[in-house]
Amino acid sequence: MVYLTREQEKILDGERGEVLQKCYRLLVKLGDVFGADRLIPISSAHLSGISYKSIGEVGLEFLEDFSVGASFAVRTTTNPCGVDLKKWKGLGVDERFVERQLRILNMLEKMGATLTLTCTPYYIYSPAYGEHLAWAESSASCYANSVLGARTNKEAAPSALASAITGVTPNFGLHLDENRKAEVVVEVEFTPVSVSDYSVLGYVIAKRVGDKVPFIRGLRCGKDELKALGASLATASPLCIFHVDGITPEAKFQETDGLEKIEVDGRDVRSVYEDFGGEDKPEVIFIGCPHLSTNELLTLSRTRNEKIFLCTSREVCNKLKLEGQVGILCDTCPVVSPLSERYERIGVDSVKSAFYLGSKACLMRREEIIHES
Ligand code: F3S
Repeated sequence: MVYLTREQEKILDGERGEVLQKCYRLLVKLGDVFGADRLIPISSAHLSGISYKSIGEVGLEFLEDFSVGASFAVRTTTNPCGVDLKKWKGLGVDERFVERQLRILNMLEKMGATLTLTCTPYYIYSPAYGEHLAWAESSASCYANSVLGARTNKEAAPSALASAITGVTPNFGLHLDENRKAEVVVEVEFTPVSVSDYSVLGYVIAKRVGDKVPFIRGLRCGKDELKALGASLATASPLCIFHVDGITPEAKFQETDGLEKIEVDGRDVRSVYEDFGGEDKPEVIFIGCPHLSTNELLTLSRTRNEKIFLCTSREVCNKLKLEGQVGILCDTCPVVSPLSERYERIGVDSVKSAFYLGSKACLMRREEIIHES
């Protein structure tokens, strides 16, 4: 049972208004189900489910009702929406869709959100080691836990919204030391050569370890690769944390003696490319799932091809002064944008977008895409 302070009990009883009461009800219920002892303060929340394509009319109406009199108690950032706010006209997005999308964004902004419109909010504000967060968007939560050593569960859209409004989250799951410990050792028996290989590797590991926290050995890589690995790991399993020997911040604390061991080799990876690949040439290609970092965008922006879209945040794009450049898509991604509905065959370099785009998707190595362009 979740212990509440006297002040929190008053909120739960509705003494501070209906919105806060509803949020507390949700968080306390969640805490009860997962055995949380109390509600703990968070330093930030990250909201998903803000694209009109994903939430539709029902979601818009819910937010419109819910937002009356509500405001965010902590720093609150937002996932990608359904359009590039500056280029939508040129890309032929329906005006009605944009009008609905802007209503959602205006509401969130009025409540106090910073409209980061990216799944990589950590490029804009990076939480410190040990900070407690309530982040929805599984790729961002997995990065925060694994690469930054911050602490968040894989929040759903409603629980992240409730935490943004209240500034607290139930203390269970990855907020606790015991649930962050390695449970299985993964020996990587091949050398990934592309960031896409890391994306595939995350998917393979997810399929092999289920819900056991992996301690991965045999990798030498940077944060862009870890981002790719974590995004597919968190897509294909309930996991939202991994450790990489000698690289991620909590790896040095892990006890690995006596843990189950599994091996992953090049054959496992090739079979994923085959499963998500295909013979037909894609009509269009989207790179940047999760959104590209400054380093990635800098390298890729030299690629000129009208068939390729590079997805990133406006913040990253502005940092490099690439605003307005053809082929760069900010604020959105193919999964949450109606743009992808126009195509039958879509090339991607990430398992996460291949997974969500389904039979339309064609998984390719990033280098292969650039080489062919
Ligand atoms: Fe980001 Fe869209 Fe991929 S939200 S993680 S680019 S599916």
